[in-house]
This record gives sequence, structure tokens and C-alpha cells, in this order.
Amino acid sequence: MKTDYVAAASKLASTFHRRGFTKPTGYFFILVLAYYLGYLSALTKNPSTKTLNHNQPPQSADIDHYQFQTQCANPVPYQLARKIILNRVFNDTSPYMNFPQPHIEPFLRHKRIKGWGSTGAVFENLIRKVKPKVIIEIGTFLGASAIHMAELTRQLGLDTQILCIDDFRGWPDLPSKFKDIKMVNGDTMLLYQFMQNVVYVNATEKVMFLPYSTQSALENLCQWGVFGDLIEVDAGHDFHSAWSDINRAYKLLRPGGVIFGHDYFTVADNRGVRRAVNMFARVNGLRVKADGQHWVLESR
Ligand SMILES: C[S@@+](CC[C@H](N)C(=O)[O-])C[C@H]1O[C@@H](n2cnc3c(N)ncnc32)[C@H](O)[C@@H]1O
Repeated sequence: MKTDYVAAASKLASTFHRRGFTKPTGYFFILVLAYYLGYLSALTKNPSTKTLNHNQPPQSADIDHYQFQTQCANPVPYQLARKIILNRVFNDTSPYMNFPQPHIEPFLRHKRIKGWGSTGAVFENLIRKVKPKVIIEIGTFLGASAIHMAELTRQLGLDTQILCIDDFRGWPDLPSKFKDIKMVNGDTMLLYQFMQNVVYVNATEKVMFLPYSTQSALENLCQWGVFGDLIEVDAGHDFHSAWSDINRAYKLLRPGGVIFGHDYFTVADNRGVRRAVNMFARVNGLRVKADGQHWVLESR
């Protein structure tokens, strides 16, 4: 198409020449014409340069964005939560048994805890309010917030199981930022250091974990009927990760339960947490409350 326009322009140029147009006028005219033809050509080649109507309602296929696993199994009694995970994930053997193995011990520190907003007032506020039997934490890292919640439930005399979901891989440049968390043959010791922290504070009876992606761990909890009264979302902070985690997690919330998460009011919120939380609340007719840097949503 573009070559046709160019051929037409050069044909016109030679016609002008034959008919004796003065040079500057002729060249100026050709320049304007070539520019216009080029513009026309770009339009026909790339229809996306046409104005798009961003207000169009979503097409039916877009509904997939809002659909996650539809039906979970009926909730099992809360006393079974830990047992089911031991059975399904760890073949009925406690992962804390004989921990740490002799070949792992030299890579661990007795206690190495680091978190972000992991001891904010929101934890105590919600634990006092909900008195949870099962807490599900999505994003655990070294266990700072999980250990804080274990301490709080202990102080309040609550018999609470805390189920921690994390792939314990952190993120790609973790080894350069956390040099004291060792890497062995490309495998970060994050999981073992988290376990060591839990052992150190004597919380192995309260804290169990699922060392998988949030997506597969949450889907499995849904299939097994393992629900939570309190769910903390603090894993991937980009919009799509947060959107997926919140949608999957909300399905696991018992009636009267509360779901909450970090980075509603920190710089990280611009990466998508706040947008995901607000959109989830809007779509589900919920009201977002804030507690410090955290967002809070109550089940309907
Ligand atoms: C901000 S840290 C969690 C901090 C923790 N809640 C605290 O306050 O101490 C985020 C964690 O989410 C985990 N994570 C991120 N995306 C994940 C995913 N898709 N599946 C599993 N874990 C993920 C990372 O490995 C990391 O340990």
C-alpha cells in the first residue's frame, strides 16, 4: 500500500517537472503531499491509531478475570486443619521432625527475623476482635508476622493454628540483598531459616506451612475445605498477584472472618495492592477499612 502512494507521488513530481512548475513551489507541494500520503498509509496499516472507546462494557470473555475456583469443599472442623496439611503435604510426618538436619545446620542462624510492618497494631486489633481458630498467612518470608501472631494468640490464651503459605523463594535478587541467608547449589535457605525461627521461639505447634505458590496452595486448601477466620495477604505486590491472591483467599474466609494485608499506604501500593483491594471491594460490594499501613475487609 505504502509503495503505491510513493509511486503516485513520484509520478506527480515528474508531471510537475514536465509542465514547468518553478522548483521551490513544486518541491514544497510534493513534500506536503508525501507527508499526507504517508499518514494515510500508516492509518490503513495500523488501525489501532484510530480512537479507541475505553468505555465499552467488558466482552463476555473478559468475565474470566473475575472467575476463580468456584466451589470449595465444605469447611472441615478447625481442629482438622493442621492434620489435613500434615497428611496431604507432608505424608503424615511433621516437617519439624529432626530439624535441622546436620548438613543444613551450618547454614542457619539461631534466629534471623526480618519483616515489613510485621508487628503493626492491626495484628493485635484483629486477633482480639476475631479470636481466630485458624489464621492463613499468604506470604511469610522469615516468619516475622507469623511469629508475632503466634505470640499474640499465646498471650490471649487462644488455641490458634497459623497456616503459612510461601514458596520460600523470595525474589530473584534476594541473595544479593540478604547475604546472610545462604544459598546452596542455587537453593536459598529461606524455608529452613523460617523453620529455624519458628523452632527458636518454640512455636512449632502453632505454625504449619505450605511451601508452594500461593495459587496452588490456596486452590488446594479450597479443595480440602481448610478455611480461615483471619487471612493475611502479603505475597506478590503487583496488581495481578494481589488480585489473584485476594480472590482466592476470600473464598476461604469463614463467615464473620476478616481478610487483611500490608502495603495499602506504602510506596509499594502503587505497584498494585491498593488497586487490587479497591477493585475487589467494588466488585463484591465491600468497604475497605484502613489500619495503619494495612487494608482490612470483613466478610459479608
Ligand atoms: C513481603 S514478604 C512477606 C513478609 C511477611 N508477611 C512478614 O511480614 O514478615 C513476601 C513473601 O511472599 C512470597 N511470595 C511472593 N509471591 C509468591 C507466590 N506467588 N507464591 C508463593 N509465595 C510468594 C515471597 O517468597 C516472600 O517470602
